[in-house]
Amino acid sequence: MGDHVLGVAMNGVTGRMGYRQHLTRSVLAIRDAGGLELADGSRVVPRPVLVGRSERKLREIAERHDIEDWSTDLDSVLSDPSVSIYFDAQITHAREAAVRSAIAAGKHVYVEKPTAATLDASLELAELARRAGLCNGVVQDKLFLPGLLKLRRLVESGFFGRVLSVRGEFGYWVFEGDWQDGQRPSWNYRAEEGGGIVLDMFPHWHYVLEHLFGPVRSVTARTATHIPTRWDENGEPYEATADDAAYGIFELEGGVVAQINSSWSVRVDRDELVEFQVDGTHGSAVAGLRSCRVQHRSTTPKAVWDPDKADPGRYRAQWEEVPDNADFPNGFRAQWELFLRHVVQGTPFPHDLLSGARGLQMAEAGLLSAATGRTVELKEVAL
Ligand SMILES: NC(=O)c1ccc[n+]([C@@H]2O[C@H](COP(=O)([O-])OP(=O)(O)OC[C@H]3O[C@@H](n4cnc5c(N)ncnc54)[C@H](O)[C@@H]3O)[C@@H](O)[C@H]2O)c1
Repeated sequence: MGDHVLGVAMNGVTGRMGYRQHLTRSVLAIRDAGGLELADGSRVVPRPVLVGRSERKLREIAERHDIEDWSTDLDSVLSDPSVSIYFDAQITHAREAAVRSAIAAGKHVYVEKPTAATLDASLELAELARRAGLCNGVVQDKLFLPGLLKLRRLVESGFFGRVLSVRGEFGYWVFEGDWQDGQRPSWNYRAEEGGGIVLDMFPHWHYVLEHLFGPVRSVTARTATHIPTRWDENGEPYEATADDAAYGIFELEGGVVAQINSSWSVRVDRDELVEFQVDGTHGSAVAGLRSCRVQHRSTTPKAVWDPDKADPGRYRAQWEEVPDNADFPNGFRAQWELFLRHVVQGTPFPHDLLSGARGLQMAEAGLLSAATGRTVELKEVAL
């Protein structure tokens, strides 16, 4: 029952997601906790091997976190037999080529979303991984957020009766970069580098809707580039060629209508940066990143429309908080743990590259709908 050390090549660890969520809060947190305990009492300990473009940045991160191995040469890392998993959190456009190499080298792959820049490419990656018999997965972190875990609990308990609609509001003001630095990387606003809020956020909305409420059957979307000029990391102005807001309507199998606004050009008047309101025949809920509030049919006030009188209703006070009733670990780490178990024990992992491809299908359908002004049906994608 010896411990099992698993080499994990991690590409993109100098970036926001790669460093904070995946390296420090997930893989290093698991390593520093002595690994992950398996059913037979043994432990699997991930050993990160950092990969990237900048020797200086990689060396700094490696020294800061007591990591022995790092390299700017992906191929040499992939040829190391002690590396079992390739993880990718690079900028979206760089992902496909690296994942192809990893699959060709026989590594299990786990990647940030979107899994590639196009549906065709994402399906091809899913197909290649399946044909090679490799474990594969995509980050679907929102499903592991406390607010959405509580929402899932409500769905599973039958709280809603028949779900009618879902209303999502996501976004915040991203500074243009001239008089205050932008808080997101400039490639996010360049279509030619894989930027755009549709490509970024529709894959998230896809797995949230699919896992909680059912498959998405059609998309109607309107996109906008509200802020046409931004300033990059060097203070230089550039043209924003990608959408920075998307207003989408998604019809689900069974008739649920979901409507989600996504915007980096909106100021927040919500409790959280994303919130979903779910209305059902028997009750409603509003879930954010951490909290979830409910109103049951039995406590629903009778609102009466009369604009000539001051309204005595304090509507937001009429909801009840869903208790935690559990400890919620970091969502990225929780999903890493599931993926590691999947690799070493073959336990189920539904967040595979094919499900990532369905997310891209919804993003492409959103862009097509915005370009043509029509509703786009989502056909079943299969390998
Ligand atoms: N799951 C989530 O909630 C979530 C949130 C944000 C971003 N993401 C995804 O994570 C990925 C990385 O996003 P980020 O916000 O961390 O980006 P970032 O700009 O902070 O990091 C990008 C990383 O890619 C590397 N890279 C490789 N080739 C590059 C190139 N040609 N130009 C620039 N950088 C290059 C950089 O060195 C860096 O390590 C994206 O695919 C994005 O869609 C996921």
